Amino acid sequence: MYIKQLDKDLPALWFEDGVVHFIEQRKLPLELLFHETRTAEETAAAITDMIVRGAPAIGAAGAFGMAQAWLAKEGREEATKLISDARPTAKDLFTAVDEMEKVWTDGGDVVKASLEYTAKVVEKCRLIGEHGAERIKDGMKLLTHCNAGALATVDWGTALAPMRAAHRQDKNIFVWVDETRPWLQGSRLTAWELYQEGIEHAIIADNASGHYMHLGEVDMIIVGADRIAANGDAANKIGTYEKAVVAKENDIPFYVAAPDTTFDLGTNTGRDIPIEEREGAEVLEYAGSRVANPGSEAKNPVFDYTPHRYITGYITEYGIVKDLSQLPL
Ligand code: MRU
Repeated sequence: MYIKQLDKDLPALWFEDGVVHFIEQRKLPLELLFHETRTAEETAAAITDMIVRGAPAIGAAGAFGMAQAWLAKEGREEATKLISDARPTAKDLFTAVDEMEKVWTDGGDVVKASLEYTAKVVEKCRLIGEHGAERIKDGMKLLTHCNAGALATVDWGTALAPMRAAHRQDKNIFVWVDETRPWLQGSRLTAWELYQEGIEHAIIADNASGHYMHLGEVDMIIVGADRIAANGDAANKIGTYEKAVVAKENDIPFYVAAPDTTFDLGTNTGRDIPIEEREGAEVLEYAGSRVANPGSEAKNPVFDYTPHRYITGYITEYGIVKDLSQLPL
């Protein structure tokens, strides 16, 4: 991803000499800082604490964490458990850890495998961009929720990849960016990425998206996914379900963009997807200061799932499909 203030391209994370380097996503956009981890334990903490987030990016981080444990000659089973426990919803984390565990068991080079895994994810996202851009017409107004950009995927993005590709094809596009309470992945991260790329956009409060859909100001919605069940139900950032329902009511195409590492044929439906609950403080506080009524508590489910009947199609590295039977999973 191109970063204006550095005038260079950087991925969201990379692995060099046993060290994982991350763009510190909790500090963006006001500060562009980097974070380093030297052990699997530190890498697992970076995932849990959301220094790195987004399904394919935490998959890559998980692969690198496994590689660090392998380099340090730690126990394979302990490392697998440590990394797998970092966050529960994104399938990519488990896809990556399983793949690294297999290489480790077979006596292979886990560092090499983690680098290959990550390079493949980046290429899949580039292809998602190519396929998705075919559906984006000049002059379209799109909407996205959360951050499914390069920061969430190492590079390119899933939902943002088609927008990036369409923009590079000189199509004029405009993107409505849902703020995405409580962690503000939209207003902080998606807006930052679109700004770096020079894509016209506006941040809206989460509860404004229905208003713009109703006014005919949204031509298409593209979101990412954390896990897609065998029947096509897709878990993504909390609030995605509402967007999909309102989109259907207003005849707006609603696409889910994801690489094959996010699909989980072992989970039957959206209801079976484990939904992470994070601390209520994320809802009760704003920038570290309490703003909610003292004495009140909060619930903070961070994902929901959208039933497949609301999903127009899945934008994948293989192309755009209507249902999962069309994918070589
Ligand atoms: O809690 P987060 O920020 O990890 O949630 C991220 C999302 O919900 C993204 O939309 C999803 O991982 C798709 S990323 C390409």
